[in-house]
Amino acid sequence: MSDINPASNNNILLEAKSLTRRFGGLVAVNNVSFAVNKHEIFGLIGPNGAGKTTLFNLITALIPPSSGELRYQGAEISRLRAHRIAELGIARTFQNIRLFGELSALENVIIGRHLHNKSSIITGVLGLPPALKEEYKNRRKALELLDLMGLRERIEEKAKNFSYGDQRRLEIARALALEPQILLLDEPAAGMNPNEKQQLSTFIRNLRDRFNLTIILIEHHVPLVMGLCDRIAVLDFGQLIALGKPAIVRNNPAVIDAYLGNE
Ligand SMILES: Nc1ncnc2c1ncn2[C@@H]1O[C@H](COP(=O)(O)OP(=O)(O)O)[C@@H](O)[C@H]1O
Ligand SMILES: [Mg+2]
Repeated sequence: MSDINPASNNNILLEAKSLTRRFGGLVAVNNVSFAVNKHEIFGLIGPNGAGKTTLFNLITALIPPSSGELRYQGAEISRLRAHRIAELGIARTFQNIRLFGELSALENVIIGRHLHNKSSIITGVLGLPPALKEEYKNRRKALELLDLMGLRERIEEKAKNFSYGDQRRLEIARALALEPQILLLDEPAAGMNPNEKQQLSTFIRNLRDRFNLTIILIEHHVPLVMGLCDRIAVLDFGQLIALGKPAIVRNNPAVIDAYLGNE
């Protein structure tokens, strides 16, 4: 592997060490190591089937690794459950959008906040004051995020009636409702028109700054990735074949061969 541009040590938020995930005979993520800095926009690219989504599934504990380590703020997290990962501040969107189609935009975002609700289910069911107060706060927070996504006028509409681009924005709002430190975006521009793609770039950068986020972005739209990311990791057949600044990755022969050649 060439073009290694390591994250600076004291600033690392998330780190994978020799991370591997097998599905039967297939090694979907193969001995992958990288570190993501705080406040970085970190791109993850590579051909279809390269293992990008699997890497997100490992980071968010939807599936366990076959071997290797994942460290978040210095602590090993690869044996934790998904809800714990979310509590630690790792949120994501999905390549295949996962919204509750029959619920309103507002309800979908409020659901994203449930991890913040400290009052017990009993208090909630009985409608006692702590739960009510939290409900109010959840609603206020969700409205704020929907406003930010430009969806303020449509909060009562069912998610299934939203356009693809708007559903992706809604998913980002739901992920942000968790008040994460790190946000994983799995192909957020997929299904968006060129104009929306253009806006998305500025939007993601603004999100990072406004919420002091670290962002890992899987995206096929090369201009968007190259223009937006601080560093880029390239996966091919489960292996990390390059990692570094966009200008360097773009000119890496192995990357051109595996991925950029047909651009
Ligand atoms: N749950 C699973 N069971 C079996 N194979 C899987 C599973 N998830 C992903 N894969 C396989 O792992 C490889 C990587 O998939 P994926 O991570 O979705 O790639 P990418 O997101 O880069 O397109 C593919 O060959 C895919 O078929
Ligand atoms: Mg994928």
